[in-house]
Amino acid sequence: MNKILFNDSIIEREKLVDIEDRGYQFGDGVYEVIGVYDGHFFMLEEHIDRLERSAKEIKLSLPSKRSELIEQLKRLVDVNQLKEGVVYLQVSRGVAERWHHFPSNNTSPTLVAYTKLEQTMKREEDNGGTAILTEDIRWLRCDIKTLNLLPNVLAKQKAVEQHAVEAILHRGNVITEASASNVFIVRNGEVITHPANHLVLNGITRRKVLEICKEFRIKVSEETYTINDLLNADEVFITATKLDVVPIVKVDQHLIGTGAPGNIAKKIVYAYRDSIQERID
Ligand code: PDD
Repeated sequence: MNKILFNDSIIEREKLVDIEDRGYQFGDGVYEVIGVYDGHFFMLEEHIDRLERSAKEIKLSLPSKRSELIEQLKRLVDVNQLKEGVVYLQVSRGVAERWHHFPSNNTSPTLVAYTKLEQTMKREEDNGGTAILTEDIRWLRCDIKTLNLLPNVLAKQKAVEQHAVEAILHRGNVITEASASNVFIVRNGEVITHPANHLVLNGITRRKVLEICKEFRIKVSEETYTINDLLNADEVFITATKLDVVPIVKVDQHLIGTGAPGNIAKKIVYAYRDSIQERID
């Protein structure tokens, strides 16, 4: 795991952060976490599409051509012999004297990617996990996968302190998503999740799960729902890269449904596992 991609070269991991890198000082950059299963990327093209979109939204031009970046990421997984884990990739607006406004055009962005061992949460996938509720205090462009994660960090820490898998976020009464995953509820056989607008990240796993629901003819609504809807749902589940699909059986002190993973969540957990086997990029 000791090799990293730094701009366009694969090099030994070493201390590289410049104190005036804008990612380090301002969180001025974007990132992706891409799942690797059995040594292969899953939905790599979709992650690169989203990286390009995030970069465009913050007016950052990516330093590498798409095809070259994809080749380099595959090489990174090969040289580090990563079997199960993720590739973390981030691009910042580069190193420049610290002024809030963008640096001059001759400042090149910094791209860094490295591999990280990570297992899927098989135990929680099978038995369900718990979550807490906390206010969503993030900005209004949560659709951009930026490096600014302090509200997410604080929310996740609160969950960990309460031995929960996730912190589910609400803006007022409306459930948006979770600190590092999307949230779905099931009510009367219908799967409901927040629309993919500026208040949530349009998860790659979320999109795959919506496809799976269509294949299984499970009714889906991308619409807002409230804290009450969540607590009274028949089932709740969360989705994210490498976490995959995890049923949530308890939120704060409230049991969800029977307090065990429900049938629709289980169906989606299995179908998602199958789709990884079928579609390894
Ligand atoms: N996070 N919502 C938020 C706020 C997230 O941070 C993530 C993923 C998701 C799910 O997106 P996807 O299915 O594309 O992974 C939703 C990654 C895993 C992270 O920051 O580590």
